[in-house]
Amino acid sequence: MENKIIKIVGFTGSLRRSSYNKAALRAASALLPENAVLDIIDLADIPFFSEDLEAEGIPPSVAEFKRRLSEADAILISTPEYNYSIPPVLKNALDWASRGKDLPLSGKPLAIMSASISMLGGARAQYHLRQVCVVLNLAPLNKPEVFIANADTKFDKEGNLIDERTKNSISRLVKALVESAESRL
Ligand SMILES: Cc1cc2nc3c(=O)[nH]c(=O)nc-3n(C[C@H](O)[C@H](O)[C@H](O)COP(=O)(O)O)c2cc1C
Repeated sequence: MENKIIKIVGFTGSLRRSSYNKAALRAASALLPENAVLDIIDLADIPFFSEDLEAEGIPPSVAEFKRRLSEADAILISTPEYNYSIPPVLKNALDWASRGKDLPLSGKPLAIMSASISMLGGARAQYHLRQVCVVLNLAPLNKPEVFIANADTKFDKEGNLIDERTKNSISRLVKALVESAESRL
C-alpha cells in the first residue's frame, strides 16, 4: 500500500533522565524514513504487575500503553542491560501487554537496539529480549543488529547522538523495520 504512514511505537526500560537508550530513541525519531512516525512511550507510570491489581481493573496507564501499542504497525525497543538481562521496567511492561484478550504486540515486527556504557553494548540483554519475543509472538528483525557500545562516548552532554556510524546503523534498522511493517499491510 503506497503512501501509508507507518506508525512505530518505541520504548525503553530505562527510567533515567539522561538515559542513553532514551537518547537512542530520540535519535531514531530523527532518522526515520519519510513515511514513518515514532511515538515514544514513557514507561514510568506503569505499576508493577500483580494479578490482584489486574482483577481490580486495568490501571489507566496500562490501558493507555496497550491502546498505543494496538495502533502501532511496528515496535522499536531500546534496552539497557541490567545484570546481563533486560531491566524490570521493560519486562513488566511486556508482561502487562501479554495479558487479556487484546494482544497488541502479537504478530508485529520489532526492531531492537541497546545502549550500554560497556564494550558489549547490551548484547546479552538483547538475546534475553529475543527469548521473551517468542511467547509474545513478536517478530523481531534478525538484522541489522544495533549495539551502542561505550555509549558515554557516542552522545553529547545534551543526549544528542554524535557518532556517525551509530547514526547509520540506526537508520538501517528503522528502514528495515518500516519495510517489514509495509510487507505485512
Ligand atoms: C542494576 C544495573 C545493572 C547493570 N548491569 C549491566 C550489565 O550487565 N551489562 C552492561 O553492559 N551494563 C550494565 N549496567 C550499566 C548500564 O548499561 C548503564 O548504566 C546504561 O547507561 C544504562 O542505560 P541508560 O543510559 O539508558 O539508563 C548496569 C546498570 C545497572 C543500574
